[in-house]
Parts: sequence; C-alpha cells; structure tokens
Amino acid sequence: MDRELTQYDSTEALALRQALYGFATGPTRGDIVRNTLCGFEGMSVLDAGCGNGKLMAEILRPFRDVTVTVLDPSEAMVEEAVQRCSLWQTSGHVADISNIQLSRFFDRIVLAHILHLTNDPILAIENAIRHLRPSGRCIITMHSGTDFPKRREWISWFEQTFQNQYRAKRDSLNLQNINAFTTGLPGTFEKQLIHTEICLAEPAPYLDYIGTERHRWEHEPTDEEWNLYRDHVRTDIESTIARHGAFVEQHDWGLATIHLS
Ligand SMILES: C[S@@+](CC[C@H](N)C(=O)[O-])C[C@H]1O[C@@H](n2cnc3c(N)ncnc32)[C@H](O)[C@@H]1O
Repeated sequence: MDRELTQYDSTEALALRQALYGFATGPTRGDIVRNTLCGFEGMSVLDAGCGNGKLMAEILRPFRDVTVTVLDPSEAMVEEAVQRCSLWQTSGHVADISNIQLSRFFDRIVLAHILHLTNDPILAIENAIRHLRPSGRCIITMHSGTDFPKRREWISWFEQTFQNQYRAKRDSLNLQNINAFTTGLPGTFEKQLIHTEICLAEPAPYLDYIGTERHRWEHEPTDEEWNLYRDHVRTDIESTIARHGAFVEQHDWGLATIHLS
C-alpha cells in the first residue's frame, strides 16, 4: 500500500495532525465549510474520506435533522466517525470514493483533505459528483502550496543533510493545480485561499505532528537521524518563542465548491 496512506489505517496519526491544526487562529475549517455550504437541516450529507469524523461532527454541531453517510477505506476511521456522528442519523461504508456506487443522491458532499491521497483525483471527484442531487453542493478542502513554510525549510534541511527525499503526495493536488483535475465537471466551480496561522507557545504539538511523517522519507531515517531532525525542529521553534514570545507559521489551505444547477 502507498506509504502515505498507511498512516490512515488507524486513527492515531490523524488525531495528532488535527491537534496541530487546532492551534490555528481564526475560524476553523469546520466553521468555514459550514458557512460556505449554507445549511444542512433536513438534508443528506456524504463525507467521503471522513477520517475520524471530527470535522463532520464540528460542521453539523448546530443542526439536528441530518442524514449522514461517512465513507473511508479505513475500517477504524469509519467506526470512529460513525460513533462521533451518532447525534445524527449516520451510516458508514468502508470504501474508496473513486469506485463506490451508493445508488442514491446527496444534498451535500464533503471531500476534505483527501483528494491528494487518491490514486486518481479526477475519478474520485467525478464519482463523488455522480452522487450529488440537482442543485446540490460539493465542497473540497485541500492543501495549499503556500502552507507551512518553516516545515518546508526543515524538510529541505533533512534532505540536504541526510540525502533522503521526502515522498509525501501532499502536493499532487492542491489549490494551485486543482483546475487541472476539475475541467469538464458539471455545475459551477469556485475556489479560494483560506489564510490562517498556527500559533504555538511550545514545540510539542508540532513535534507530535512531525512524528507522524517518519515513513514519508525515501529511506526510513535511522533513530539517530530522526532524533537530529526533531532536535533541529525543536531548537528552531524554541528559539523563535524565546525571541518573539510565540512560534507563528502560515497555514493556508484551499477551499473549492461545485454547485449543480
Ligand atoms: C487527511 S485525512 C482527512 C480526514 C477528514 N476528512 C478531515 O478532513 O479531517 C484523509 C482521509 O482520506 C481517506 N482516504 C484516502 N484515500 C481515500 C479514497 N480513495 N476514498 C475515500 N477516502 C480516502 C484516508 O483514509 C483518511 O481517513
């Protein structure tokens, strides 16, 4: 299996990654998705690539009468998402959004930070849209090529120091190139850059996040290399906090909506 995907077999790595996003300033991803989708009451929602269901539960917090379908290739994710969304009428599928046929339509479809992980994002988007009801809306959240500049520096430092390439697929689909994956889709397509910043008073949340990425290097780093990397990151964050009182880093991400007429 793809090495980046293996971290999503279980829910731990996702929880550590979401914990860092929890330090972002301004409206959360859940707030922005909820506001962009203009309501859910009485509607049916498909969350494809639901992960642990935290995002969907946050989006739906103000609503009661919603029928939710969560879908993910990881059984552990689906179990946790169904449990977390039990306030609503929720069912789960262990499946790939690229080829599932659900034989029903949805008012809202959410594809949140999953397309860069799929083998064929065009197939995944097309199949998702096939499940969208007329006048329904699909929302896609994704990475931006402008996020985490410090982390990109740390990755370059590691690549140069240990001649080891970072192999994540995170840039395979992002806000900057999504149009290449969406031409010819029905409906109207709009995208926007969401600008946020991560603000930390200590390095631990970032070190935990980075700890989920050890498998993403071409050669698995040795313990010694990995400890040096973590020390490099820790020192950078701590010295920034000592100088400025906090470590602040740009965490931009992308949002796109597809609206069927
Ligand atoms: C980064 S997590 C995002 C989870 C959640 N949507 C969120 O935004 O918090 C990506 C999720 O996409 C799932 N995924 C990967 N490939 C998929 C595919 N082909 N179809 C559906 N889900 C997929 C992974 O198992 C993982 O749970």
